[in-house]
Amino acid sequence: MFSERLAQDAALIQTQFDLVLGALDDVDVTRAMAYATQGGKRLRGFLVLESARLHGIPADQAIWPAAGIEALHAYSLVHDDLPCMDDDDLRRGRPTVHVKWNEGIAVLAGDALQTLAFELCTHPKAGSSAVRAELALKLARASGAQGMVLGQALDIAAETADSPLTLEEITRLQAGKTGALIEWSACAGAILAQADPKSLRQYARALGLAFQIADDILDVEGDSKKAGKRLQKDAQAGKATFVSLLGLEAAKARAAELVDQACAALDGYGSKAETLKDAARFVIARES
Ligand code: IPE
Ligand code: IPE
Ligand code: MG
Ligand code: MG
Ligand code: MG
Repeated sequence: MFSERLAQDAALIQTQFDLVLGALDDVDVTRAMAYATQGGKRLRGFLVLESARLHGIPADQAIWPAAGIEALHAYSLVHDDLPCMDDDDLRRGRPTVHVKWNEGIAVLAGDALQTLAFELCTHPKAGSSAVRAELALKLARASGAQGMVLGQALDIAAETADSPLTLEEITRLQAGKTGALIEWSACAGAILAQADPKSLRQYARALGLAFQIADDILDVEGDSKKAGKRLQKDAQAGKATFVSLLGLEAAKARAAELVDQACAALDGYGSKAETLKDAARFVIARES
């Protein structure tokens, strides 16, 4: 069952974090890092582990980039929740890092999670020097001013823009803020195997967009207790989302179309790709 597979991969990633973070000095910033990496769906790490399995790469190798991308994602959430960004006090059902500690610790824990992500992706057990270099180069591009950071900057700028964003502009925003890391995650298996990531990239582009549309829909009609974060915030904050542009029903239809596209992109892999296809279906059906 898909949910069991997701939970199994999440547990592998947690064990890896316990090992790596447990070896650091026990101080506030490392406690905050461990805290920020706990919980969550681990979808990005799951995509790494499953795309690796698809290419015959064992979990004890893929776990390094899987934990790496979850560290990077955790950093993005810690910073996303800061008062100067989305100003949120709840994440994964618990107080956000700056609420539990303070803003300084939250900034620093995010910084250190980001560098930890690169350390994990370039660990000798993650593959050959060439593979590790490619993982790190692509992660740098996906995370920075061409990727997640660009998307976050566009997201913040849209809050105070004079006119609503166009469909094209919102697509660019979301491809950065959410799409880039999801794309890296799904392509990681092919990179580890030095195979062509083309089909996985197509899958991930559709999946990433569907994922963010689902996040925006959850903000409107989700249950905060189940989601573990505050909802009904985007409209008031003036966020540019597919829901704000298209309305709920058209956004749902678009997300469903994207899931079909994501699944079709993996047809060449045959039945081996069923778990990744299930992940695409899960992404728009989830409640958290
Ligand atoms: C939330 O990501 C932030 C977005 C990019 C929309 P997730 O929904 O994957 O959060 P966790 O990791 O499961 O908590
Ligand atoms: C966050 O997007 C995206 C990143 C952290 C890169 P959101 O601001 O929509 O995520 P939530 O709703 O706070 O989880
Ligand atoms: Mg945000
Ligand atoms: Mg947010
Ligand atoms: Mg959101």
